[in-house]
Amino acid sequence: MQQKQPIGIFDSGVGGLNLWKPIQELLPQENTIYIADNAFSPYGKRSKDEIISRTFQVVESLIKKECKLIVVACNTATTNAIDKLREKFDLPFVGIEPALKPAALQSQTKTIGVLATQGTLSSKLFEKTSHTHAQGIKVVEQIGTGLVTAIEENGLETPALKTLLSNHLKPMLEQNIDRLVLGCTHYPYLVPLLEELLPPQVVVVDNSMAIARQTQYLLEKNKLQNPAQNSKGEHLFYCTGHEAQLKAFLPKGTPVEQLRVGQ
Ligand code: DGL
Repeated sequence: MQQKQPIGIFDSGVGGLNLWKPIQELLPQENTIYIADNAFSPYGKRSKDEIISRTFQVVESLIKKECKLIVVACNTATTNAIDKLREKFDLPFVGIEPALKPAALQSQTKTIGVLATQGTLSSKLFEKTSHTHAQGIKVVEQIGTGLVTAIEENGLETPALKTLLSNHLKPMLEQNIDRLVLGCTHYPYLVPLLEELLPPQVVVVDNSMAIARQTQYLLEKNKLQNPAQNSKGEHLFYCTGHEAQLKAFLPKGTPVEQLRVGQ
């Protein structure tokens, strides 16, 4: 029965867990399959064509595992590939892109910062969203060079990560932003550091919860909700590279399997 099939969720690494968590909390009866494509990480530095073809390969793996809906839990993959995914595959997709609209609406200084990958900031979809929702607003774009790799490889507690983040914030703060959009699903892990580094007038804008609600909405719309309301969903985790990175961000003892994608 299609309703019992899992929701597929993927990212280049551990960032998508920041969407997996609220989805699983909002829809506890749903089964999920998560793929961390860490063999190909970071996506953000790759060309548009590479991002699209890899995204297709990961999606094909999730479809082989009979996913009923796919959450592209990565801004870089969404902004470069979601239109093409929707054209090619006949199942619902949820994507994530930088939350420019709420930030632009809330800003008092009419200046907002967007921290995202190069792949996201150079995409056509980002340009279009910026044009549509940030009229009359100054958008200060900042590529978060090195942040994804630092989070994936060294964890969150290193002084080097704090220095790197502080350097990325500087040009945005100099332009008087009062909203900071987290345009990469890895960046919510930086919130404790951002609380230390940002002045109080700068509010962080993160749309993870909205993505969970959109997932719920699309399941309902397509009549795909798991009817087993009282049972708890099963969750499977895969990675394409080394398991240690994903394991470090999951509760102790959670099994992680290696998966080949694109062969
Ligand atoms: N978590 C990602 C995003 O939301 C991917 C980052 C990367 O691999 O560069 O953009």
